[in-house]
Amino acid sequence: MSASVTPVPLCLSATGPLSGRVRVPGDKSISHRALMLGALAVGETVIDGLLEGEDVHATAAAMRAMGAQAERSAEGRWHVQGVGVGGLLQPQGALDMGNSGTSTRLLAGLVASHAIRATFVGDASLSKRPMQRIITPLSQMGARFSGNGDRLPMTVDGASPALPIEYRLPVASAQVKSAVLLAGLNTPGITRVIESVPTRDHSERMLRGFGAQVTVETLPDGARRISVQGEAELKPQQITVPGDISSAAFPLVAALVVPGSEVVIENVGLNPTRTGILDALAMLGLEVAIESRSEAGGEPVGVLRVRHALLKGGEVDPAIAPLMIDEYPILMVAAAFAEGKTVMRGLEELRVKESDRLAVMAAGLVACGVPIEELEDGIVIQGSGGAPVPGGATVASHLDHRIAMSFAVLGLNAKAPVVVDDARPISTSFPDFLPLMARLGALPR
Ligand code: S3P
Repeated sequence: MSASVTPVPLCLSATGPLSGRVRVPGDKSISHRALMLGALAVGETVIDGLLEGEDVHATAAAMRAMGAQAERSAEGRWHVQGVGVGGLLQPQGALDMGNSGTSTRLLAGLVASHAIRATFVGDASLSKRPMQRIITPLSQMGARFSGNGDRLPMTVDGASPALPIEYRLPVASAQVKSAVLLAGLNTPGITRVIESVPTRDHSERMLRGFGAQVTVETLPDGARRISVQGEAELKPQQITVPGDISSAAFPLVAALVVPGSEVVIENVGLNPTRTGILDALAMLGLEVAIESRSEAGGEPVGVLRVRHALLKGGEVDPAIAPLMIDEYPILMVAAAFAEGKTVMRGLEELRVKESDRLAVMAAGLVACGVPIEELEDGIVIQGSGGAPVPGGATVASHLDHRIAMSFAVLGLNAKAPVVVDDARPISTSFPDFLPLMARLGALPR
């Protein structure tokens, strides 16, 4: 979290249509992985476009604490001097993960197969999040866990050598998949993870890019089995991190809900395991135009053009949840302005994110006068048909960046101001959110 201890309330307003061309910051998931794999390669990895958010800084600090060098040059390029697979050193103090679940779970995977001990601590939000999902497979690999049961603080004693396992994911989670694959890098033999539903595949792509032997097969039941050959030697890379579609989703929905808007968003990562938000919007009647496509860091990238539009309520197919898990809060904001009812289900995982995103979104929408019904695994939202929502509330963001940004966007088309109680968490993933929104015409009031 940011250095300031006092909450910083935020209320955005649009004086007219939003317009302009903006570029979103680097992808958070890819940024974490670039630092981690750079730290495990032998030699210098150079990273352009790294997300300079607090979560990613937590990963960089942890890699330094375990012996790698990770420095930012004046022109914003990151240089990582790796220690080689197997070369991580025991950190002297606890690793402070701040708000970042991805840092914690992936780094626990790395520590699990090194002969070191590391203690992970985090902020109040992270300290409530479940860790059993990684403790189970990493314990099977031989790591030992102690501390606070399923929660942080958590101490990991790595196994050397670790044991290769084949692990079927009980929850659709790229973090768990990645923790096991990263542990597999320093484990003799082949470590395998089976996922019944696809989750973001940045780890698999980047591991291959660094020269690890990774294979992906489709099993008879349709599941994917990802295998990594252990005791790998990673070769340093030159990486350009594509922009984060999870960040792009905020200006995108802002343009959608403010009448007359037209916004172009550049540098949007379009990895098919991340573009569920575009599919969900299409299910609600909006095809977002992709103007040009290219590639960055082994990932597809594009330019999106979005105009104000009236969404039609409907059912969002629960099958796409893992492909847009972080975009549900902002999709709920879009649904608040749709014509008719929107139903979203299959969202149990939202309850264990930076906050219980189902409960927190439901409470905030109710406070802002949006009729909703919260379900055990989802939400039903009655849209306003494009009219401004009532607003006139202060919404609690519960240390959750995506909740804070979602309600800031909701307030852009509200009769009375929507105040977010604390904007500080936004800097975990999107430090330039406010200047970027201001360039489009959405200003703090
Ligand atoms: C992430 C995976 C997702 C996502 C998180 C980033 C990753 O979490 O919510 O923001 O980088 O692997 P789960 O794997 O827990 O669904």
